[in-house]
Amino acid sequence: MPKPSLVSVSTLERSTVVANNTMNRERGLAGVNSYARELGFDPLARLAARPAAPSWLDLCSGEGRALREAARALPGDAVLTGVDLVGPLAPVPAPPTVTEIVASVSSWTPTRTYDLITCVHGLHYIGDQLGLLARVASWLAPDGLFTAHFDPESVRWADGSAAGRAAVSALRSAGFRYSARHHRLTLEGAREPSLPFRYLGADPAAGPNYTGRPAVGSHYGHP
Ligand SMILES: C[S@@+](CC[C@H](N)C(=O)[O-])C[C@H]1O[C@@H](n2cnc3c(N)ncnc32)[C@H](O)[C@@H]1O
Repeated sequence: MPKPSLVSVSTLERSTVVANNTMNRERGLAGVNSYARELGFDPLARLAARPAAPSWLDLCSGEGRALREAARALPGDAVLTGVDLVGPLAPVPAPPTVTEIVASVSSWTPTRTYDLITCVHGLHYIGDQLGLLARVASWLAPDGLFTAHFDPESVRWADGSAAGRAAVSALRSAGFRYSARHHRLTLEGAREPSLPFRYLGADPAAGPNYTGRPAVGSHYGHP
């Protein structure tokens, strides 16, 4: 097996696989091309059921359409935060309860916890996916919910061999649930997991993943 050539975060984020303007960044809240469909639940219904000030952090939020649509239906004390490498693409300003942050989720950290954290087809472009998952777990409210699309095939050891089973096993031990059928990871309630993987670098030439789109390989060694 040829050894992949691994790149740094800054090189990855400038690579054609990540800085790709043909990605689907336009999912709305409900309907055919939507968060409700990809997540398997209606984020708005979950947030609307909160007793007060619902909060939603959407990582790799794309155009932020789902957040903007949610803002129109939620109370004025809602906190809706989107983070994406690409700046707001919509020509109209976001509603006041929506904050759109232009940053890499690989280095950005929130200053509060959230009732709901989502990452809809965003992990596919992250180098240190497991490091991000460990950090995200601590950003949840005590009864918060995190859900993200995750492809275990993208997790590799230093020599390029598959590390996905070991990754899923470690994530499950840390409290995450993984649905292979839907490629979805879920975590309920805040944790401070320590995953036994040492990040080595990203392979932007890993090729298409289960979505059929080019994705990034995340390479790890043992701690
Ligand atoms: C396939 S799009 C999905 C967008 C949105 N979640 C949706 O479903 O409409 C993936 C998004 O991840 C963003 N992204 C990739 N790497 C990122 C990073 N390191 N930090 C923040 N966003 C990133 C891309 O800019 C892109 O908007």
